[in-house]
Amino acid sequence: MSKVKIGIIGGSGLNKPGILEGGTEKVVQTPFGPPSDVLIEGQISGVDCVLLARHGREHTINPSSINYRANIWALKDVGCTHVIVSSATGSLQEDIKPGDLVIVDSFIDRTFKRENTFYDGSPNSPFKDVVHMPMEPAFCSKTRSLLLETARDLGLPVHEGGSVVTIEGPRFSSKAESNVFRLQGASLVNMTLVPEVCLAREAGLLYAAVAMATDYDCWRCGVVNVVEVLKNLRANAKKVEKLFLAVIPKIAEQNWDNELKCMKDMLKYSNQTQIS
Ligand code: ADE
Repeated sequence: MSKVKIGIIGGSGLNKPGILEGGTEKVVQTPFGPPSDVLIEGQISGVDCVLLARHGREHTINPSSINYRANIWALKDVGCTHVIVSSATGSLQEDIKPGDLVIVDSFIDRTFKRENTFYDGSPNSPFKDVVHMPMEPAFCSKTRSLLLETARDLGLPVHEGGSVVTIEGPRFSSKAESNVFRLQGASLVNMTLVPEVCLAREAGLLYAAVAMATDYDCWRCGVVNVVEVLKNLRANAKKVEKLFLAVIPKIAEQNWDNELKCMKDMLKYSNQTQIS
């Protein structure tokens, strides 16, 4: 049974190194440049974990400028098997209230200026192959189940699934866009889950996300108010922190050999260069 190591990408409001025991900072370089910040390596309930602040610890990096490839590469490079992340989102559904958590199960990609693959064909890339990864299921089902079960045990307001639309940002959506996303059946809107989830798949990492609803996007609230978003974010961050602290020992109890092998096989069967 392989030992797990869990990467935690803290979104806005969740990047507190204090959640780790014996946290030490590690500066990492990757073939794609530097990640958003140092990695902080330590333990939670005796389980090896690595914390990375998606926007940098001072929250200085906007969603389009995050080096998603470097972030995922860095976590893979230090030996992570899993990545669990938090993300602030706007709700597109009446029943998902600000303050609720959603263990998202799919995404709609509305980004347009981000590097979204390691296999980009550029001369400097260490990856020369042409790879087409499946994105169903988009998130690790077993990690999602553990997150859901743990959130319920803790009595947190949690929804079992939902699709998130990732927009390019940094602006919020127009009302017409917000209504289109609703018609498309999406539950939430944010600015960062894509391409992070896709790169994690290419890297063979078991990735799951906890979305925190911080507002009803403008379809309902008229204007998305950053003050309100930040207020709800702070309240929700505590819930996600509690959830992560409780789920990590549960993840470590499980045998993940099958899931990790599936990831490896998926990459093998998605590599057009190797197959043809
Ligand atoms: N993050 C938090 N709220 C959001 C919203 N309404 N749209 C996009 N990203 C968000």
